[in-house]
Amino acid sequence: MKCINVRTSHPYDVLIERGGIKKCGEYISAITSSRKAAIITDDIVGGLYAETVLESMKESGFECSVFTFSNGEQSKCLSTFGDILDFLCESAITRSDIIIALGGGVVGDITGFAAASYLRGVEFVQIPTTLLSQIDSSVGGKTAIDIKGGKNLVGAFKQPALVICDSDTLKTLTPEILSDGMAEAIKYGMIRDEKLFELIESHNLDTIDEVMDELVYTCIDIKRDVVEHDEFDKGERMILNFGHTLGHALEGWHNYTDYTHGMGVAAGMCMITERLASAELAERLKKCTEAYRLPTGTDIPMSELLPYCSKDKKRESGNLSYIICNEIGKAEIVKVTVGEFSRLMEG
Ligand code: GLY
Repeated sequence: MKCINVRTSHPYDVLIERGGIKKCGEYISAITSSRKAAIITDDIVGGLYAETVLESMKESGFECSVFTFSNGEQSKCLSTFGDILDFLCESAITRSDIIIALGGGVVGDITGFAAASYLRGVEFVQIPTTLLSQIDSSVGGKTAIDIKGGKNLVGAFKQPALVICDSDTLKTLTPEILSDGMAEAIKYGMIRDEKLFELIESHNLDTIDEVMDELVYTCIDIKRDVVEHDEFDKGERMILNFGHTLGHALEGWHNYTDYTHGMGVAAGMCMITERLASAELAERLKKCTEAYRLPTGTDIPMSELLPYCSKDKKRESGNLSYIICNEIGKAEIVKVTVGEFSRLMEG
């Protein structure tokens, strides 16, 4: 088992272990004296892993209740959020008990926000079961739900008490969901680590499992470093947004259906690199992205995407920040007006 200690205002460990989910009771009992937990999951992940988690928790003496909602982004809403809060109350979860998020990014984000709000804060554990949630959303404390006005517009910074990443759970993912996470892995290589990028480009979607533990460890370690320097997203953490300005616009244009976050990030990284960095770098990134069956651009006219860029929540009154990598492993944050960004991307 590998362990990464994240030294934020509320430090915690990220455990990376094949089969780790079967030992979650043992790991969770080491971080709490309570023996009462609420498990929040969705109907797909719950069907695959809830029994395993329950069994392990029971063996370690926990009394558990399980709340299951429908898989998918449409569930990351106020109504499911309210249902989770009611469930926690009905299950008599107190401030000293534990809430467990078992699933991908949607489960982690909404459960984390419920844990931040219920009784003004209860400890929670992330058991992420997708590549995207293992290497990105489960680490760093961003929790959120979507409202009519946009994705992730309501939330809180709430660091988990423990994260358990079991790369065996990635074996049940469809190739599309694995690709979704690989976009973020490519991003980490581009912004921080040429060796990681080389590891990724020397594999493809069918062979990446051979090096999955190394990949997951390296990506989480990069995220740890960035988050430790900028826990509350005031500066450096913005580099994690490479490819995301156009990526979010693409997701928004597609109305968040049939177009994953990873597809948006992949296309966004390739488009900005093609426009603003060297042709050689753009070609290398494009080749790597294609090997993971991700898009490298779009046919949607820039004039239709730009209105979605200016809706991005990272925009500050008329300005937005975009990230550019002129070399693999080095990212730069560039602040421009929305107008300047339009000229750069359209010109
Ligand atoms: N997913 C980007 C961040 O955690 O800041």
